[in-house]
Amino acid sequence: MTHEEAIQHLQDWSQAFTGKNQHPPAICFLTFGCQMNFNDAELIAGLMNQVGFRKIDHVEEADFIVINTCAVRESAENRVYGQLGRLKILKESKPELLIAIGGCMVQQPQVAEKIQKSYRQVDLVFGTHTIDQFAELLWQTMQQRKMVCDITEDNLIPTEGLPRLRSQNLICSVSITYGCNNFCSYCIVPYVRGRERSRESQHIIDEIKQLVADGCKEVTLLGQNVNSYGKGLQPAVDFADLLARVDGIEGLQRIRFMTSHPRDITEKLVDTIADSRRVCHQLHLPMQSGSSPILRAMNRGYSKEYYLGLVQLVRVKIPDIVFSTDIIVGFPGETEADFENTLDIVRQVRFDSAYTFIYSQRSGTPAAAMPDQIPYAIKQQRIMRLMEIQADISNQINQQQLGQIVEVLVEGPSKHDASMFTGRTRGNKLVHFAAEPNQIGQLLSVKIEAASSFHISGTVAGKA
Ligand code: 5AD
Ligand code: SF4
Repeated sequence: MTHEEAIQHLQDWSQAFTGKNQHPPAICFLTFGCQMNFNDAELIAGLMNQVGFRKIDHVEEADFIVINTCAVRESAENRVYGQLGRLKILKESKPELLIAIGGCMVQQPQVAEKIQKSYRQVDLVFGTHTIDQFAELLWQTMQQRKMVCDITEDNLIPTEGLPRLRSQNLICSVSITYGCNNFCSYCIVPYVRGRERSRESQHIIDEIKQLVADGCKEVTLLGQNVNSYGKGLQPAVDFADLLARVDGIEGLQRIRFMTSHPRDITEKLVDTIADSRRVCHQLHLPMQSGSSPILRAMNRGYSKEYYLGLVQLVRVKIPDIVFSTDIIVGFPGETEADFENTLDIVRQVRFDSAYTFIYSQRSGTPAAAMPDQIPYAIKQQRIMRLMEIQADISNQINQQQLGQIVEVLVEGPSKHDASMFTGRTRGNKLVHFAAEPNQIGQLLSVKIEAASSFHISGTVAGKA
């Protein structure tokens, strides 16, 4: 069956459904994990929109539920199993309901097998390499009574040119690389997302130009390791070259990128950011640990001193740079002295914010088989100590913003307080302020009047 035939079948099916039920079939997404999964969900939403499904937010009203899973930590996997348990009950009261599960978790063969055996409420299991074949897989699922499972791997970029239903037009993310070749010893990503491959820069530029034409003001370039962008492309291009080209796109206001591997940041890249007009002076630079022996065991390719030197270099060239980071505590063999080194580097660098994680044993990764796994109680105690120190630093940095005027891109009403709006500074700090709905999408100047560890707030002083 060709892709076009599958689409035609799905269109006919959804037309018949609409005729019978007086409303189009409804699809609901449950998306876990990182931006890559949100990207995949938007591609599936684009396809399903094309064949006549309507996207909704409540699982109870759905005719089709698509779950995009994350495998980075065990806790994320447990949440998915919990969700599948709840959906089993829903399906008992609604036997026609279709459930598809995809993403990194099910790309692990032992998980796909477990779902096939023990989670019969699922109709379709699709891997991270099959998004372009989603129409064919879904039609096959609708035709046969058995669960369909396809987690075959390829190392292509099959999603170029597919329709996409974006959740918003103002702030968008654009993938520039897929997969990862780094094999950090704790991480499952290289096993479930395949080898690193880079999109053609012209495709990226064309996509961003289209986004800007549709109202996008801020773009985030996405990849597991954006700094190695361009490997294998002809003519030769690197991440700094790409960033400079994106910087030249008229109408775009802000450019961000994630994630940077400290080992692959070049001086050329730092200069490109410094010389750019639109690239935000913000760098998410996962450190993972402040201990050189642990960094070696993690296969990160740099030492504590290298990391500190890099931070210094960037600060000299871009004095107002804002750093954020990822830190894992309780990696196998992490001693109290190793952990103290992590606290030391946190105090020295003074990150604006840090995402802190308890090490999670991922089966199939080298670290899972290492001796000296750290007891959970110690890991928990370490993360509490780390979070407390970081919260204090974030708070001190935010207090320094009091009285300052910052540029904010207005995103929309605050989720917690209907009278307030939210937006972010160029340094990616969350700001609360009173505004009007017609100011969404505008760049405003906000005078900061209050600050805490996680956000700042103030009063609009005018247009930025
Ligand atoms: N356990 C805990 N945290 C992990 N990360 C990746 N793998 C693991 C793991 N096995 C964290 C890293 C990475 C972030 C996205 O998730 O800090 O930067
Ligand atoms: Fe995982 Fe390391 Fe690749 Fe990041 S760079 S996805 S932590 S293997």
